[in-house]
Amino acid sequence: MTSTNTTSSSADVLFQPFQIKSLALKNRVVMAPMTRSFSPDGVPGENVAAYYRRRAEGEVGLILSEGTVIDRPSARNEGKIPFFHGDAPLAGWKPVIDGVHAAGGKMGPQIWHVGAVAHPFADWAPPAPPESPSGLVAPGTARGQAMSEEDIADAVAAFARAAADAKRLGFDTLEIHGAHGYLIDQFFWSGTNERTDRYGGATLAQRSRFAGEVVKAIRQAVGPDFPIILRVSQWKQQDYAARLASTPDAMTDWLLPLVEAGIDILHCSQRRFWEPEFAEIDGAHGLNFAGWAKKLTGAATISVGSVGLSGDFMAAFAGESSTPVGLDNLVERMQRGEFDLIAVGRALLSDPLWLTKVRMGHREHLKEFTAAAMAELVM
Ligand SMILES: Cc1cc2nc3c(=O)[nH]c(=O)nc-3n(C[C@H](O)[C@H](O)[C@H](O)COP(=O)(O)O)c2cc1C
Repeated sequence: MTSTNTTSSSADVLFQPFQIKSLALKNRVVMAPMTRSFSPDGVPGENVAAYYRRRAEGEVGLILSEGTVIDRPSARNEGKIPFFHGDAPLAGWKPVIDGVHAAGGKMGPQIWHVGAVAHPFADWAPPAPPESPSGLVAPGTARGQAMSEEDIADAVAAFARAAADAKRLGFDTLEIHGAHGYLIDQFFWSGTNERTDRYGGATLAQRSRFAGEVVKAIRQAVGPDFPIILRVSQWKQQDYAARLASTPDAMTDWLLPLVEAGIDILHCSQRRFWEPEFAEIDGAHGLNFAGWAKKLTGAATISVGSVGLSGDFMAAFAGESSTPVGLDNLVERMQRGEFDLIAVGRALLSDPLWLTKVRMGHREHLKEFTAAAMAELVM
């Protein structure tokens, strides 16, 4: 770092180490999980390993993999999404984590089941009908079939096996994908969970039973010291305005039991990290989702959403470009300890050296994000 370099000093808070259980991170920056669909037959290859290794070489403290699916026939909705089960896919993941470690990074897979959500662009069908709590992809919209209690028990066991495999392969943590309207979130959401058995109910706490069972089974599989991350969101891709918890009390009822079941870090997904979660309580500059989740549960939290870029990621899917923007708001929030870690998605997808440039204050070298970057594994 040079003394002429203002960004480097103001961004220092991003470069503080962080430790939780067995996970020691050299800085506070997390690569957000991003589906890339470059794994034919569900097997990540050398190109995928090189892509993640490049981000570790670019100093990213913790890398979360793209969503990688459990052993259920309809867990994915596109043919090049990687599996996190089976001999060949797991053998494909081994060089990924070894490469990240060799470059001084840490990594966890994001363990996923898409539920009833279809891929937005791919004309691809899973080998079995899509499955979800009530056979609904959105309120009032049927797709696939409702899961039986046997299906649910098998899905819980499949999550646990994936977790055991993550630890066995040498990953440092894992993230459960409980956000964005996919399977676990479909249980949380009253609009897609109309079950009348013990996996449904009028309260969010009742509809969290499936997530709680997944968390407990994973904790059992990985032991007490291995940190478990849970990604949650209020918004759904089916409905950006949807909210699971509209008050802090409701948020506590939702998230605290999951933390007590074994979650160490809540990854609170927002499209724009600076948006207040409960502005009616603490104002337009109030705590964001990760800030409230940390305050209400005591868990460590990760925030995310449009860090360093002018437009949000849904705009990216619509083909819009985003230009680099400053990090002052982020730095201020992290200096106040609002949340512990910050995830960065598109900026790292399109530039493996983004964090190095931020550390060195090379703002002029930060890249614009274009939708074209999503079509390749940028090295
Ligand atoms: C190409 C792409 C794929 C994504 N895939 C996933 C995914 O598999 N799992 C997930 O939880 N979020 C996924 N996301 C959301 C990102 O993790 C992140 O929350 C979002 O991009 C906002 O961060 P950003 O504004 O820094 O890009 C994806 C985003 C993009 C752009």
